[in-house]
Amino acid sequence: YGAAQVLVASNRGPVSYTVGEDGSLDAKRGGGGLVSGLSAIGSDADALWVCSALSDGDREAVRRGVGEDGVRMLDIPADVHADAYNGIANSVLWFVHHMLYQTPLEPVFDTEFRRQWASYEAYNRAFAEALAEEAGQGAAVVVQDYHLTLVPGMLRELRPDLRIGHFSHTPWAPPEYFRMLPDDVAGQVLRGMLGADRLGFLTERWAEAFTACAERFAGGLGGTRVGVHGLGADADFLRKRAHEPDVEERMAALRQEIGEGRRTIVRVDRTELSKNIVRGLLAYRRLLEAHAEWREQVVHVAFAYPSRQDLAVYRDYTAEVQRLADEINAEYGTPGWKPVVLHVKDDFARSLAAYRLADVALVNPIRDGMNLVAKEVPVVSDGGCALVLSREAGAHAELGEDAITVNPYDVTGTATALHEALSMRPEERAERTKRLAAAATALPPAQWFLDQLDALRG
Ligand code: G6P
Repeated sequence: YGAAQVLVASNRGPVSYTVGEDGSLDAKRGGGGLVSGLSAIGSDADALWVCSALSDGDREAVRRGVGEDGVRMLDIPADVHADAYNGIANSVLWFVHHMLYQTPLEPVFDTEFRRQWASYEAYNRAFAEALAEEAGQGAAVVVQDYHLTLVPGMLRELRPDLRIGHFSHTPWAPPEYFRMLPDDVAGQVLRGMLGADRLGFLTERWAEAFTACAERFAGGLGGTRVGVHGLGADADFLRKRAHEPDVEERMAALRQEIGEGRRTIVRVDRTELSKNIVRGLLAYRRLLEAHAEWREQVVHVAFAYPSRQDLAVYRDYTAEVQRLADEINAEYGTPGWKPVVLHVKDDFARSLAAYRLADVALVNPIRDGMNLVAKEVPVVSDGGCALVLSREAGAHAELGEDAITVNPYDVTGTATALHEALSMRPEERAERTKRLAAAATALPPAQWFLDQLDALRG
């Protein structure tokens, strides 16, 4: 047995390496809820985070034996990882849970899928074996997300003494959609998950969908408990970070780009199919068409950061976002006014600057496990920000009352919601923002993680 008493497993870890020109390795710590959540226990000598080596730098770090205390990166063969991550996790499981397939043509579960599935099994097994090796007697292991659905079952067989939890950061598909997976694969996923003592979801709706799938296709939950932990925004970190000099600099630059006295509609996303960026742009175009009074008076600041660019559909989607933004600018722009300001280079400081400036935030995903942008904006907003929020985001369960709710497929409805948001009285906007911020920070990341551990041990 190993020495770790608390273990986390996820595909993407808290740190990544790049190889410098002189061959030296440069470590960069990532942000995000999970990373800050684990930092709560990160200094304990008996905590360990097991993750994949993702970049060349990561693989090099593993080979050289370089690493951070409390982090173990697994150097899974690149082709196996690519099949498991791009092929199964991001092209199949992500698509199933976000209901992204255009079903007349997709999915096609053929021999290529079977090969990729074998890689997904091998990749999950590598995690299960590493965890079995590192975990001390009776340790608690919290496995994260759809990349690692088979790990709980595999680990249970290797180490029946462990407390095993799994947490899903995505939605879970309802049975009628989930059943499009081949029966044996669907069964494996469910049995893998049900190897856990406890499963966590971001909202009631996803927990219910999982339970329904387990009841219909796996004979029920067995001894596995299911719970909900609605990950919140990290207010202390965000408020401090949002007032650092680099953010102030970016605010000045953005103000220039936007122009004096104009309103701003902000969105910040990975360029991700489920985020519905294209319909967001169509809704903005509809707003300019239907409400001429906003022309020259509003700017849509859209940050769409590169994501999963190994997948052709993501590259196509990225191109479509760019094309549509250009089209709207050509259609409505004037010498002194650029209706859409699109930035695609990832820059967290600039995202925070936009959050602070925003009059309206547009968060309109087709389906989303939680959506932290919806929670972060109200926390750092300077003057109050109206939130246009999809009813299909997990965050809607907590923020719905003070947001303007949209059906993400309804473009004219979203345009109307944008108009309503832009027209909201400043006092009302400020009051709503205050309540949104309170709801958004109800469960800070550190507490979110500790609650999971308590529930697992309890
Ligand atoms: C979602 C998933 C995470 C994932 C993140 C970024 O939030 O739930 O597990 O890490 O997207 O995606 P990527 O593929 O870049 O890790």
